[in-house]
Amino acid sequence: MSKTQLFDLDGKIAFVSGASRGIGEAIAKLLAQQGAHVIVSSRRIDGCKQVADAIIAEGGQATAIACHIGEMEQITAVFAQIREQFGRLDILVNNAATNPQFCNVLDTDLGAFQKTVDVNIRGYFFMSVEAGKLMREHGGGSIINVASINGVSPGVYQGIYSVTKAAVINMTKVFAKECAQFGIRCNALLPGLTDTKFASALVSNEKILNTALAQIPLKRVAAPSEMAGAVLYLASEASSYTTGVALNVDGGFLS
Ligand SMILES: NC(=O)c1ccc[n+]([C@@H]2O[C@H](COP(=O)([O-])OP(=O)(O)OC[C@H]3O[C@@H](n4cnc5c(N)ncnc54)[C@H](OP(=O)(O)O)[C@@H]3O)[C@@H](O)[C@H]2O)c1
Repeated sequence: MSKTQLFDLDGKIAFVSGASRGIGEAIAKLLAQQGAHVIVSSRRIDGCKQVADAIIAEGGQATAIACHIGEMEQITAVFAQIREQFGRLDILVNNAATNPQFCNVLDTDLGAFQKTVDVNIRGYFFMSVEAGKLMREHGGGSIINVASINGVSPGVYQGIYSVTKAAVINMTKVFAKECAQFGIRCNALLPGLTDTKFASALVSNEKILNTALAQIPLKRVAAPSEMAGAVLYLASEASSYTTGVALNVDGGFLS
């Protein structure tokens, strides 16, 4: 009996935003391990180069490219570079997001509101538009949006962030419905509390952590690597009939 090829990504080009650390780094490394050439991206090129170098040192293929997804010119520029350097894109993982203000919703600052919307909604949307155009030219692809459990059940003092994550879940369905005809699938991953820099304020505060753990049936925080397997599934042929789905990877929190 031969092993399944369903999770092989040989010959695929994958772009992962926010791949210099945390969940994005774990995703980039797993996709590369499965054979994809991974474009490792975030705002700061240094962190991306470190991750790309680590992938190459393990025998994989990776290229570091900086892109601030909250800046439209940078999105346009990065796709011009992808077209020129690779000529195609098979997998887009929209993972980079921001959550600049932790406060009661009534205290939301306009600047924080705008930044969160620009990165988490406009950024994901136009990254998907650009990737979708490129995928359409080559018969299809897979877009994976890293949303959050907060898109379903808003996080305390994470008002506008939770609103944007709900938008990402709906955006996933929009792209799934309208791009299926081009062979493009689009799915969302909804991580639960995961041990990264992003969540450090929550994980390092014993009171907040214990309150969170009380609501998680598996009674622990996730490791970034525990998000990557679900993304591999959604990126690969294993999920060829799955589109428009929001996949909870949350230790049972939303159940
Ligand atoms: N950790 C959790 O508990 C949790 C739970 C639910 C959902 N999520 C979601 O998971 C995703 C990844 O979060 P994480 O916990 O892995 O965060 P993280 O460890 O803080 O990493 C964030 C990554 O995004 C990059 N980044 C930040 N702003 C960016 C921008 N405007 N443009 C491009 N890159 C940017 C950062 O690099 P640079 O600083 O170099 O840009 C970094 O690579 C996010 O969508 C988050 O909402 C996380």
